[in-house]
Amino acid sequence: MPIKWEKSKYSPKARAFLAKPPQEFPLLTLLDGAVRSGKTLNIIQKIPQIFDSIGNDNLKVFSGYSKNTVRNNVLIELKPFIENYLGGNVKYNSASGEMDITLWGKTYPCLVVGGGDSDSVAAIQGGTWDFWYANELPQHHYNFYNMALSRLTPANARAFADSNPESSNHWLYQEKIKPYLEGDPDVRDVFEYWHFTMRDNANLSEVFVKNQEKLYKGAFKARKIDGLWIIADGLVYDTFNREKHILNALQIIEKIQKSEIKEFFLGIDWGWNYSTACLLIGVDHDGKYYVIDELYSPKIEAESVISWIDKKQKEYNRFFSFANCDNARPEQNDKLRHSTNLVIYEEKPKIEDSISLVRELINYDNLIISSLCTHTLNEFDTYRYPSETERTKSLLGGDSADLPVKVNDDCMDALRYGLYKHLTTFR
Ligand SMILES: Nc1ncnc2c1ncn2[C@@H]1O[C@H](COP(=O)(O)OP(=O)(O)O)[C@@H](O)[C@H]1O
Ligand SMILES: [Mg+2]
Repeated sequence: MPIKWEKSKYSPKARAFLAKPPQEFPLLTLLDGAVRSGKTLNIIQKIPQIFDSIGNDNLKVFSGYSKNTVRNNVLIELKPFIENYLGGNVKYNSASGEMDITLWGKTYPCLVVGGGDSDSVAAIQGGTWDFWYANELPQHHYNFYNMALSRLTPANARAFADSNPESSNHWLYQEKIKPYLEGDPDVRDVFEYWHFTMRDNANLSEVFVKNQEKLYKGAFKARKIDGLWIIADGLVYDTFNREKHILNALQIIEKIQKSEIKEFFLGIDWGWNYSTACLLIGVDHDGKYYVIDELYSPKIEAESVISWIDKKQKEYNRFFSFANCDNARPEQNDKLRHSTNLVIYEEKPKIEDSISLVRELINYDNLIISSLCTHTLNEFDTYRYPSETERTKSLLGGDSADLPVKVNDDCMDALRYGLYKHLTTFR
């Protein structure tokens, strides 16, 4: 349901942002801070005024991690706003990304592009832009970001971006936010920074804010709620709670017998000196996931995994639909493909993306681990981010990614592979 703009409420910060004349902003303006603090909708609401001020001589670009994220986060609100409230028109061709926005008698040629991949920069070479909106800027590839800035050559060109905080090693923090906060005059000439917390979104209820605050702890609370750019440390799944998230194996078997669990699939992480981990995961009719069983052992061949899968399909009297496996061992995956009835995928998800999906499941109590899965449960207790000293000692120093320490992570990887595939493809 699109926003009812006539019911909008405005905090002093939102009011100040909306009231500032477009040409008084520098080249790039970043709205960052807590989730749900109104960053995206403030920019959407400002776009008609910005377009009117810039004119329609040049191309205007909307980017996000992918074209789809721009559509889901931005166009879904921008289109009804322009059409139903301002009497304009938005024509979007999702295949080419071309978009024409007609407003107050002028047509603005726009382009929607994904900026998340290293090859996305090829899509935007050449051409002059006078407007760029980067939704979730930290999710863009660094090369895309630089290329985009270099396209904004007209004197009246303006760029706006929103972002949730990431690690303080991220290029956006290091190159723009930190120097801005330290008062660097060169950065302040071209960059403006607006920081939002949930309290700056007058449209959220007190109850909603309180509930959100309960969902996060530690570094993630600092980022998501307070909107701070800090390095993640401590446990990766720090909201995993033994009381709430473990179920006795017998109770899980009962759920299977009562057909409460509707689909079964596997996540597999291959190892040799380190263990191979194979997790059997089930999902119920409400979208709750159960880790039902685990195979965990060093120095086992694909044949052992195949016979384990056969045995478990008989034991639980259910067919398993697919396995998503570590892509480092294609020959092992081929053996599974030939000798089991499962569809075998080899899709390695980005660590940060899959961790945040798993975290979300845990936060909403939608991931339950059987008491049988002792190795998986042990890893929940130890899977962690490096401490600051470990980080400075390691060569990771310049890396902007938040990567957990790579020990005792076999079950955690298998869990990510299986859940990510199901969540992104079948849900
Ligand atoms: N002007 C507004 N009018 C009505 N609701 C709003 C407005 N701005 C924000 N909201 C509400 O707050 C939510 C979060 O806003 P959004 O801009 O998506 O936050 P962010 O981009 O900071 O995560 C929206 O889904 C909407 O429910
Ligand atoms: Mg947003």
